[in-house]
Amino acid sequence: MRLRCSECHHQLELHAKAIECPRCAELLELVPEVSQDPATLKQLWRDRKSSSDPRDQSGVWRFREFLPEYPIESVVTLAEGNNPIVRGAKSAGYAGLRNLWFKHLGWNPTGCFKDLGMAVGITEAKFVGARAVACASTGNTSGSLAAYAARAGVSTRVYLPAGKVSANKLAQALDFGAEVVEVEGSFDAALNTMLQASHDDIYFLNSINPFRIEGQKMAMFTLCEQFAWDPPDYVVVPGGNLGNTSAFGKAFAELKSAGLIVRVPKLIVVQAEGANPFARLWHSNAKELQPVEQPETLATAIRIGNPRSWKKALRAVKETDGLVMDVSDEEIAEAKELIGRDGIGCEPASATTLAGLHKLHAQKTIDPEARVVAILTGHALKDTDFIIKRHNHAKRELAAIEAN
Ligand code: F0G
Repeated sequence: MRLRCSECHHQLELHAKAIECPRCAELLELVPEVSQDPATLKQLWRDRKSSSDPRDQSGVWRFREFLPEYPIESVVTLAEGNNPIVRGAKSAGYAGLRNLWFKHLGWNPTGCFKDLGMAVGITEAKFVGARAVACASTGNTSGSLAAYAARAGVSTRVYLPAGKVSANKLAQALDFGAEVVEVEGSFDAALNTMLQASHDDIYFLNSINPFRIEGQKMAMFTLCEQFAWDPPDYVVVPGGNLGNTSAFGKAFAELKSAGLIVRVPKLIVVQAEGANPFARLWHSNAKELQPVEQPETLATAIRIGNPRSWKKALRAVKETDGLVMDVSDEEIAEAKELIGRDGIGCEPASATTLAGLHKLHAQKTIDPEARVVAILTGHALKDTDFIIKRHNHAKRELAAIEAN
């Protein structure tokens, strides 16, 4: 495994603790060097499913040939990953698709996809001797970081946009013993505040950290395995800071170059209209992303105006021949209700995927026979306030109609 700059390819020492290139200040990436042939790897990963080694019970560490190597006693895990794919008839009808699956990354130990990245991120933090870790967060990263750090015996500080994080997520960070710093403004302000804090004694674990990306890419390893290595035609993912999009694109590139798959799914990234700098970039001729100064959306997880991983994410969307789009808060809320009616449920940000598919169906962009996987990033109980407010609003509207 090598560590290098994702843009100028300058090489760094693997455990350098850096999060940006010392030459050009761009983000870093890890490059695996895999020697086994595809058939051996597929068999090995299948066999590990019945092993009692804690690494094999993780949907991240089970694929460790594509991860940095650590001694077994250094590995931090909560048996994350291996999340199922489930169908939902009402959602599929709404999206006009015969073959729609949800891959529910909200069904992870802390209820979101961040756990996959934290398994590797915290393992690396512990390995390099970090005593404290930190992140800026719209809520999910902070809960996940705090849980994994607690297991590793490392203290945690989280920077949150004041008043803009769901109570459920804040409660998780507190429950796992994190120190909470509230910052006025958006996630972007919280991230800037964190990056300005002293670098020496704190290890930063936002998705700009390349080790986080390594864990998150494993969601696509399990997905390809679930499809018997003949991946779906489309994978749809919500876009916030764009770490997940970058991770998924990296997974597909690695799986293809290792001969594990022959074709890659098209990546569709869906943002909320009020926090859509990546969708704007996609639809413009601009060369650089223009941040949205005051991002606003009820899907608070993706209330982000200046996504740091946009270059990696853009490469991922282009390489997979995908697309980027946005949806309104009303479209998100409607799609979320349907996912609930299928008995699956998710947090608002995750429902951008179904909202996006519904919109693409209206535009006849996707063949109704296509095999499509929508990634649900967070559990329904991550934002209960949203559900109750929506329910009360619907009740009031109904009462007003009946009164007339
Ligand atoms: N969905 C959920 C539920 C999220 O929490 C996030 C990001 C995203 C989607 C977007 O993913 O940033 O990789 O594009 N949450 C971060 C956090 C920012 O702090 O919890 P992304």
